[in-house]
Amino acid sequence: MARAPASPQEAEAERVEAAVAPRLAPSPEFLAKVERLREELPARVRAAAKTRSSPLVRAVVAGSAARGTFLADRLDIDLFLLFPPELSKEKLRDEGLALGRAVLETPEMRYAEHPYLRGRFEGFAVDAVPGFAIADPSHPLSPVDRTPFHQEYLAARETPELVTQIRLAKQFLRRLGIYGSEARTEGLSGYLVELLTLRFGSLRGWLRAARTWRIPVDLSEPGGRPPRLPDDVALVLPDPVDPHRNVASALSRRNLGVLIVGSAVYLGAPREAWFEVAKGGAIDRSDALRRIEARASHVAVVELARPELVDDTLYPQVRKAERAVAEEVARAGFAVLGSASAADAERVVVALEVADAHRSAVRGRTGPPAGLDRVGQFLEKWTAGGAGVLQGPFVRPDGSLGVETRWEVRDLERVLREALPHLSFGKNLTPADPAQVAVQPLASARDTPALAEALTGLLAKRLPWLEEPTRSGA
Ligand code: CTP
Ligand code: MG
Repeated sequence: MARAPASPQEAEAERVEAAVAPRLAPSPEFLAKVERLREELPARVRAAAKTRSSPLVRAVVAGSAARGTFLADRLDIDLFLLFPPELSKEKLRDEGLALGRAVLETPEMRYAEHPYLRGRFEGFAVDAVPGFAIADPSHPLSPVDRTPFHQEYLAARETPELVTQIRLAKQFLRRLGIYGSEARTEGLSGYLVELLTLRFGSLRGWLRAARTWRIPVDLSEPGGRPPRLPDDVALVLPDPVDPHRNVASALSRRNLGVLIVGSAVYLGAPREAWFEVAKGGAIDRSDALRRIEARASHVAVVELARPELVDDTLYPQVRKAERAVAEEVARAGFAVLGSASAADAERVVVALEVADAHRSAVRGRTGPPAGLDRVGQFLEKWTAGGAGVLQGPFVRPDGSLGVETRWEVRDLERVLREALPHLSFGKNLTPADPAQVAVQPLASARDTPALAEALTGLLAKRLPWLEEPTRSGA
């Protein structure tokens, strides 16, 4: 840190970060309280385990609360309750939840891929997560078993200076809207932020590297690439405690792109605003209607009731529904300009923008390649004088046969309603009765929080670090 800055931008970044860092740090009193709870919470759990003759092996606070790397206004204490690996999954859940209930106020059961309790302790939000006390983190028995090993790995390497850099990094990502590995966010988890900051030494260290990245980015050592990576992987960083796992598996390519572009722009012109959580940017229905008028486009809204699922289970299905709708509409002959989706407490919404609310009447149909036996049948079928042929049959530029017939239904909402029974929206979202799905043009859709979020994703895609123009059509 004593080095002279290499450029005016570096000097400015130095100043900006030094000004921001103290605002992100928890006060010494607050830190001391968290430190005390790190002892007290496990002690309470041990006492409760004794009373219940529970097979608990160990209770430990892990996550950012254990390392002091949390942002002062965004603290959840992650309390892990570790049981013998021989225990069945059912028993693990029951024993873990019982201990959580014994210690926490207002315990509330949460379930994503793993059961846990969310409750409070002395005014703090606590997640009590049951797991197995395993010896080898590369063979976890449940998805959370690696966590105590993460704690050991990071605690042994982090210095106070690095902790400051980690908080800066988390806040930087928050400003960009890409902090968090939940399915809804598809961003960077707290653990990934800590590993990257550690690897590159500081926030600026990794932003300097990030501005030159090309997606997909592979940060694994030669021969150390985790197996079974999906085709659309954005970033590969093997978990140091389990090299089979990609720590960045939740990060989407879009969000990594935001980080790469954001890194270059921040380093070129560092400002404190990069560390302020932005308000606004969201648009509502009337705002969206003005925008689509200027765009001379059309937006349809698909709305269905929200099934009782947590966001982490629901969101992958919401994204799947969005893709299914957009692909079907493109296949049906509309020019799709964009799509977006969102969920609120009551409903799921997909918004779709097309160039025109009506498709043309022309339905292109492809026949067999010239020379095949089936050519005769094709010609016979489409020259029989049947209704609806607009043009043809004819030979297409590639040598295959074609004919153009007439679409009777031409407006987007009707086409979509008719297609609904054939669309797959994911396990819990595909409605038993397609009539339960509302399909409306934006002008008559209900104004809901989910709609506003989807419209923002569809029509307010401006880069997150730019201020919204104060009032204009675009
Ligand atoms: N964890 C993980 N992978 C995830 C989410 C969580 O390995 N996608 C593990 C990490 O060991 C992490 C711990 O679970 O440290 C707690 O998760 P979480 O609360 O999400 O992250 P924190 O590290 O506590 O960071 P913060 O809460 O400040 O975002
Ligand atoms: Mg946490």
